[in-house]
Amino acid sequence: MNGALLPIHGDGEKPVELTQEQAWSPPRRSPAAWPRRSHLELGAYPTAPGSARGHAGNVLREWRLGQFAEAAEVVVSELVTNSVQATRAVRWPTRQPPVGLWLVSDGSSVLVRVWDAVTSPPERRPAGLEDECGRGLAIVTALCSDWGHHYPPPDTGGKITWAHITSPWMTEEAFS
Ligand SMILES: Nc1ncnc2c1ncn2[C@@H]1O[C@H](COP(=O)(O)OP(=O)(O)O)[C@@H](O)[C@H]1O
Ligand SMILES: [Mg+2]
Repeated sequence: MNGALLPIHGDGEKPVELTQEQAWSPPRRSPAAWPRRSHLELGAYPTAPGSARGHAGNVLREWRLGQFAEAAEVVVSELVTNSVQATRAVRWPTRQPPVGLWLVSDGSSVLVRVWDAVTSPPERRPAGLEDECGRGLAIVTALCSDWGHHYPPPDTGGKITWAHITSPWMTEEAFS
């Protein structure tokens, strides 16, 4: 994709856009470090995590990075679930707000980036043994070497949560 701007959604109102650099470069690395790139725009509907999960698995296998697929599917699913939940109260002109998913890879790791329209940050909170909630970011922490969030320029709004997967969940041999 060569365009300077990546539309995240088209709701008939002002589009939310990220520059390539905002969308593709993780903190501290340039876009050129991530030659494999994919983008999916979702609406913040209950079906979004499943769609995002399927997309992530397909894209990584297409990139011959199937050894990362399972971890990426879980991470994508948790982050998109959080974005859908966080976005629930956001008013959007014509439909549910968008959630933007980017997957990028340097060939030996996978970076997941999820944009949503709210500025409050993702924050781990303690989960008890019986708790069903509060585990998503713990799972992301376990599967990723690092994760965090950052803010695009104010005219874009929202935030991007990113997670860097550097260890394959499954061995290469499992896919040969
Ligand atoms: N995209 C997000 N936007 C705003 N807040 C978030 C986001 N992701 C996570 N959070 C906050 O971090 C908390 C912990 O997330 P998580 O570990 O996934 O647990 P859970 O989703 O079950 O609450 C959430 O309850 C929420 O307050
Ligand atoms: Mg969660």
